[in-house]
Amino acid sequence: MRRRFPTLIGLMGAGKTRIGRLLSRRLEAPFIDVDEWIVRHEALSIPEIFERYGERGFRERESRALRELIARPVVLATGGGIVMRAENRRLLRRHPPVIWLRASPEVLAERIDGDANRPLIATGGTLARLQELARVRTPLYEACADFVVDTGQLTPEQACQSILEFLGSFGAGPEG
Ligand code: S3P
Repeated sequence: MRRRFPTLIGLMGAGKTRIGRLLSRRLEAPFIDVDEWIVRHEALSIPEIFERYGERGFRERESRALRELIARPVVLATGGGIVMRAENRRLLRRHPPVIWLRASPEVLAERIDGDANRPLIATGGTLARLQELARVRTPLYEACADFVVDTGQLTPEQACQSILEFLGSFGAGPEG
């Protein structure tokens, strides 16, 4: 099944929410961020969900949210760990276009260091943590993505433009 609107994947800090909002405006489609959706439904912050239910409990909620949202006609931003579960990867593959926002751990660490709302880096050692996440997840992002944008090199506006051009060629652009 080919979706009209893209789903964004990539590590924390890659710009999924920021670029997703820009895309949603340009494509005149609603924007949904999976993390924000979970937070609203649970009435708890991401750190509170991790604390109360553990990472496993968060991942269960994340998969449930993805199942609920993936087929909607919206621009969808996911959390960085969405590709960790095979069932999520299958869903992503079945609902193209999936766009991977890629940036180096060094660039990402500068952007998100000290962000208390991201439990996976809350204990410090942000760069080492991101390097490890990148090592594990890079092949998974690769396996799910229809298109890759290097957001470390581009402004959010430039990244958005590059995605719009891809969507045009993919048959899913504003006119699509
Ligand atoms: C996570 C990324 C976060 C959020 C949670 C776990 C991850 O989303 O889902 O803290 O495993 O990389 P962002 O990528 O939007 O920061």
